[in-house]
Amino acid sequence: MQGIETVSLAGKKIILGVTGGIAAYKAAELCRLLVKAGANVRVVMTAAAQQFVAPLTFQALSGKPVLTSLWDAASGDGMEHIHLSRDADLLLVAPASADFLAKVAHGRADDLLSTLCLARTCKLAVAPAMNREMWATAPTRRNLEQLQADDVSLLGPTAGDMACGETGLGRMLEPADILTALPALLGGGTLAGKRVLITAGPTFEAIDPVRGLTNRSSGKMGYAVAQAAVEAGAEVCLVSGPTCLATPAGVRRIDVQSAAEMRDAVLAELPADVFIAVAAVADYRVDAAAAQKIKKSDAGLTLQLVANPDILGEVAARSGAPFCVGFAAETERLAEHAEAKRLKKKLPLLVGNLAQDTLGQDTAELVLFDDRGTHPLPRADKLTQARHLIGHLATLLN
Ligand code: C5P
Repeated sequence: MQGIETVSLAGKKIILGVTGGIAAYKAAELCRLLVKAGANVRVVMTAAAQQFVAPLTFQALSGKPVLTSLWDAASGDGMEHIHLSRDADLLLVAPASADFLAKVAHGRADDLLSTLCLARTCKLAVAPAMNREMWATAPTRRNLEQLQADDVSLLGPTAGDMACGETGLGRMLEPADILTALPALLGGGTLAGKRVLITAGPTFEAIDPVRGLTNRSSGKMGYAVAQAAVEAGAEVCLVSGPTCLATPAGVRRIDVQSAAEMRDAVLAELPADVFIAVAAVADYRVDAAAAQKIKKSDAGLTLQLVANPDILGEVAARSGAPFCVGFAAETERLAEHAEAKRLKKKLPLLVGNLAQDTLGQDTAELVLFDDRGTHPLPRADKLTQARHLIGHLATLLN
């Protein structure tokens, strides 16, 4: 729930469609968050959704009557499906059941919500929620491919415990995460239309099939920066070393292990408008990793290390380079080392922190270094810091 208040949907007209599934109870919280973020919310429920939650719940939360039927006499000229869909900025269906996805994929229109989906001129986003087998089954896969081909945005699902007692992929994205993904869909924000490429986490350099060299990095800062960039409306690609973190909603993630793989993935994603290198890339790798496990010996072991490519340095030196942002974790003399690093790598912006204050923690104390000088950011949680960083970056960029 951290920092949700900063997501602004002021004045956005959002139709929240609720279909039949146990996750419908979470749609009530989503409705509350949308209203709190300033959106003008109209709720449409299918007949099955009303088996799970009463329309009155959504009426109280949205402050408007809930629409449930195509044949509702109260809806004036009977053209509610046209008026509503013409007027909206976004049609968001959460939860979207397997049956509902099938219906939309096939262009069927046999109730108010499916008719709205067909008649709309605005963007459609769906947050699927279903049992893991229903999610994995071939018909659902086919329907999802069709929906993506039709430019319908998919939000989630995630993996975890399910109401049916099973565990797996199919849980609806948490309401707060759905909210985070919306500004990018609505095309607003300080980084709207920008392609942002981010590296995060450590790299892992194999010594042999079971051992390796790595850096201490949880990936939390890089993931927070990715989330903040999505909130600012950017299209975000996150190239991540091994971490245990969930991908922020709306972020496209590419998993890598070694620095060499990270470099290849980054170069393949160029061009980008912005490159933010948050990853703690291992400076060295073993010259030739052993194909088989190295046997322990009392004689000790000497490893021949060679320098890894400097991914940020290489990207920043290219012609037509993106706006490059570096991170520097130092253990002492932060300002001196950070500014030297920024000038050496020719970066317009560098984020410095003292490693011992930040590593693995949920909060960070950062200093931004740019051509105008230094800008300290007092200690706060990493998402708040990431939002400040993205705000500062957007000012420099624009
Ligand atoms: O040179 P140093 O490792 O201190 O610089 C840190 C910055 O450079 C970080 O932004 C880090 O992500 C990036 N970097 C990189 N490739 C490397 C080493 C560091 O992209 N091999």
